[in-house]
Amino acid sequence: MNKETVLNVEKSLDPEDWSALKELGHRMLDDMFEYLQTVRDRPIWAKPSNFAVASMNQPLPKLPQDAAEVYGEFFTQVLPFNNNNTHPRFWAWVQGGGTPFGMLADMLASGMNPNVSLGDHMPMHVESQVIEWSKKMMGFPDSASGLLVSGASIANITALIVARNHFNKDIKKKGLRAVPAQMIVYGSAETHNCVAKGVEVIGIGSDNFRKVPVDEQYRVRVDELRRMIREDREAGNLPFCIIGNAGTVNTGSTDPLEELAAVAKEENLWYHIDGAFGAIPKILPEFSKQLKGIELADSLSFDYHKWMYVNYEVACVLIRDKNVHREAFSVAVNYLAMHERGLSGGPDSFTNYGMELSRGFKALKVWMSLKENGILKYAEMVRQNLRQAQYLAELVRQNTTLELLADVPLNIVCYRFNPGGISDSELNRINKEILMRLHEEGIAAPSYTLLNGKYAIRAAITNHRSRLEDFDVLVKETVRLGNELIA
Ligand SMILES: Cc1ncc(COP(=O)(O)O)c(C=O)c1O
Repeated sequence: MNKETVLNVEKSLDPEDWSALKELGHRMLDDMFEYLQTVRDRPIWAKPSNFAVASMNQPLPKLPQDAAEVYGEFFTQVLPFNNNNTHPRFWAWVQGGGTPFGMLADMLASGMNPNVSLGDHMPMHVESQVIEWSKKMMGFPDSASGLLVSGASIANITALIVARNHFNKDIKKKGLRAVPAQMIVYGSAETHNCVAKGVEVIGIGSDNFRKVPVDEQYRVRVDELRRMIREDREAGNLPFCIIGNAGTVNTGSTDPLEELAAVAKEENLWYHIDGAFGAIPKILPEFSKQLKGIELADSLSFDYHKWMYVNYEVACVLIRDKNVHREAFSVAVNYLAMHERGLSGGPDSFTNYGMELSRGFKALKVWMSLKENGILKYAEMVRQNLRQAQYLAELVRQNTTLELLADVPLNIVCYRFNPGGISDSELNRINKEILMRLHEEGIAAPSYTLLNGKYAIRAAITNHRSRLEDFDVLVKETVRLGNELIA
């Protein structure tokens, strides 16, 4: 083939008509601004239409389709049936709502499209800056290290891998057979299931995750923890890690973190804290006592996409000892070796601190958001959510047909409709039905949990768009639906 012919057939995936794509891009941006600006006016949830669902059961496209048409399909078939965690009355699971500026940052990151893995380029420095700020926010020492990952689940697993490999230096090479007995992890019975999954994934096995009983406020019982460690040692097992919870998923309880740090020190165990959302109040001076244990941990996980309201998905893992962190993940290979100069130079590769080699530029939206708002604004928003949780709890307490099912130490409120004289099993059925109707009628999206066998409607408030009036709606509509169901 001669060069002339090749020049005529070579193509790229860039548009042939840039001006048309620019115009479409501007429309997309305007549409998304409009979408976010008017989110309060829409129902909290709409079931994906049959047409929309069927549109995702099509053959693999063979031929090109016009970009505007593709966008049209997104606009009519995807966008209207969102998860809607952008909505002011979304309090399901623990999900943040993102921000318009975060959306723009994601666009910039995607346009730059760097692989933030290794090399001498600014995205590497942006992530390093975010890690430095994360350390400051959480009171970790300057010598600590960290990494941005997709969520607290992966952050927890990353920390567990570091803890495991640090426990016995042969594990990295020889696997768990290097260890003469069974390694054991401890965490309260309220610990998030991603930790148990992590214990499975790192080869310890979930049977060896000891679920320590909790007190009436769902905090780990330190006396029970000590007893379990003692019994394991007597049985010849090898305790190696304690998990502390800053904000449990069910009720937002925080374990006595300082006491756990003391046990870990006495017993010479790794101390990890899952602070997916509950570590964030560390930025509030009034939480300095309750969250004091955070800076004592060997490792900490927290999400930026939950209570820091950054757009999905981004979380952070911090490790107190940078060398231990690096030892757990670094593998020397020729094709990733750093050079003295050129693009292959630059800062230490992030692949030395985690599992992923290819990594997107999620640091950009964190960096831009932290600068856009400043930490004082975040503190204000977190305080607002804390006030809203107390407001909702008080509305529940004051209503004779509602029952608060747990204390509200943070931002999670668990309650049920209970006008009296109805069995627990029937109340479970009624409250589940109330929840489904709250969603189906597009009113509000709390989620649910079981507390001591009682079905709880559960509002986890990590929403910067909620106002007090939204909680009035939740309570009023819960009572209306409950009364309709028992009528
Ligand atoms: C306490 C806690 N830990 C871990 C997780 C998992 O976080 P992610 O969904 O970001 O992986 C959650 C999620 O809600 C959580 O509440």
